[in-house]
Amino acid sequence: MAGGTVRVGIAGVGNCASSFVQGLVRYRDAQSPEPGLPHPDLGGYRVGDIEVVSAFDVAAGKVGRDIAEAIGADPNNTLRFAEVPATGVTVRRGPTLDGLGRYLADEIEEDATPPCDVADVLRRSGTEILVSWLPVGSQRATEHYAEAALAAGCAFVNCIPVFIASDPAWRKRFEERALPLIGDDIKSQLGATILHRALAHLFRERGVRLDRTYQLNFGGNTDFLNMLERERLTSKKISKTRAVTSQMDVVPRESDVHVGPSDFVPWLDDRKWAYIRMEGTSFGGAPLNVEVKLEVWDSPNSAGIVMDAVRCAKVARDRGIGGALDAPSAWFMKSPPRQMTDHDAHEATQRFVAGTA
Ligand SMILES: NC(=O)c1ccc[n+]([C@@H]2O[C@H](COP(=O)([O-])OP(=O)(O)OC[C@H]3O[C@@H](n4cnc5c(N)ncnc54)[C@H](O)[C@@H]3O)[C@@H](O)[C@H]2O)c1
Repeated sequence: MAGGTVRVGIAGVGNCASSFVQGLVRYRDAQSPEPGLPHPDLGGYRVGDIEVVSAFDVAAGKVGRDIAEAIGADPNNTLRFAEVPATGVTVRRGPTLDGLGRYLADEIEEDATPPCDVADVLRRSGTEILVSWLPVGSQRATEHYAEAALAAGCAFVNCIPVFIASDPAWRKRFEERALPLIGDDIKSQLGATILHRALAHLFRERGVRLDRTYQLNFGGNTDFLNMLERERLTSKKISKTRAVTSQMDVVPRESDVHVGPSDFVPWLDDRKWAYIRMEGTSFGGAPLNVEVKLEVWDSPNSAGIVMDAVRCAKVARDRGIGGALDAPSAWFMKSPPRQMTDHDAHEATQRFVAGTA
């Protein structure tokens, strides 16, 4: 039954977690839609019902500190838009595994204390939903937190491009434990992916053949720094490319679609700039080209979406629904188990929340 608290755990107290935690303060009493927060109430849960009860990181500047302080620790560099009072929740030392790649290892000093037992912390804190915001390429670390969620009876919201909800074996395990799973790789409120998808959809609807396209992204946060390590990017590239090509009837040759993060520009801080170019053919074989540039603060752009995602996971828990949630995953994530158009995914998510799906 709806009502009560949505008890969230966070793996990775970086920029995204910072925006999320600040948002809990800023929108605690929101009564009507705010920019970036489409649902002040979702399934009977308000933003003020969301509480962060556990958090894990590996950085010396974050572990052992109250979440309210940890979100402001270096190298976090996102927008500060709310004063977060002490929460009483201390960031615990998670196992590093493959969380810190070559570039992050230079930037982030690892905490010297031994890692905690993640499942035990989740259980003791009463965490209901664990959100993963680990760096791109954290395959083993993500799997560790997903295992811990299963062991502790938590739902899992996977905001990063490691395939959990879109992997049948993981999906089955969450289904067997009747635990909700939403993934993979969060879509922003209005980011490069959804803009690119909308344009690809428009080309299709208007009968213009898309011949070639690129999406070049760069920014100045640790996410972009980490993504300089190309070997960590395989799943990110697949996830972002799929998100766009899934909207096309006729997919151009692989070599004619380039979607990916491209560079790190430190002075951009947590801002991200995306250049999209689409080259198509219209009536009579006439060429038709579109160029778009998007400038956005990266982390606040997806925090409101995660607020919706955790509340959907809570609604599913209340109703005893386990396994991957198809509609919310398709609406909130770039690589869901089942791709839909954004319009269909939105409608299906509304029906899911209303309980009429
Ligand atoms: N709009 C968006 O910002 C957006 C969209 C889609 C996906 N994502 C993804 O979300 C993830 C988080 O983004 P961010 O900007 O917060 O990144 P970030 O680099 O600011 O934060 C990552 C945090 O994870 C910590 N970490 C590393 N290994 C860990 C481990 N094993 N256990 C616990 N913590 C660990 C780091 O110390 C850091 O604090 C990234 O993978 C990013 O690609 C973000």
